[in-house]
Amino acid sequence: MAVLKVRTLPAPVLRQKAKRVTTINGSLQKLIDDMIDTMHAVHGVGLAAPQIGVSLRIAVIEIPEREVITLINPEVIRRRGERVVEEACLSVPGYYGEIKRSEVVKVKAQNRRGKEFRLTGEELLAQALEHETDHLNGVLYIDHVETPDKLWKITSQDNQTFEHPII
Ligand code: NI
Repeated sequence: MAVLKVRTLPAPVLRQKAKRVTTINGSLQKLIDDMIDTMHAVHGVGLAAPQIGVSLRIAVIEIPEREVITLINPEVIRRRGERVVEEACLSVPGYYGEIKRSEVVKVKAQNRRGKEFRLTGEELLAQALEHETDHLNGVLYIDHVETPDKLWKITSQDNQTFEHPII
């Protein structure tokens, strides 16, 4: 178990397009375990490998009341609807913003054993699936904030609320 340092802006790795995973071996399993430990330690809803300095297409997501989801080489294959959400990111500490996300997001990915699966998410899961696949393409939620007045500083009182989950 290891809690890794979360990279924050302006770390260049956050802006790179991450590489596809081609080999699933023991060191990759350890990396995934460390990502899950780190996500728990920082109370994030999700974490993408570039956020711990590894430019590979891996993300982990944990929605309350659900098991951890590991996504290797995830691709969004369908989006439906649009909704306005508030969102924050571990790599952009101290801020949250209002953006538009899809209502329903379907991805295909490999699990940590390399088996392909498809997953459809709504609400927070849909938001996290888009947020994490964005990370793997070097995109941050702040890129979706339409005007500067829709980006706010987090105060200690409203930190960690469901209204602007830290993904
Ligand atoms: Ni993030």
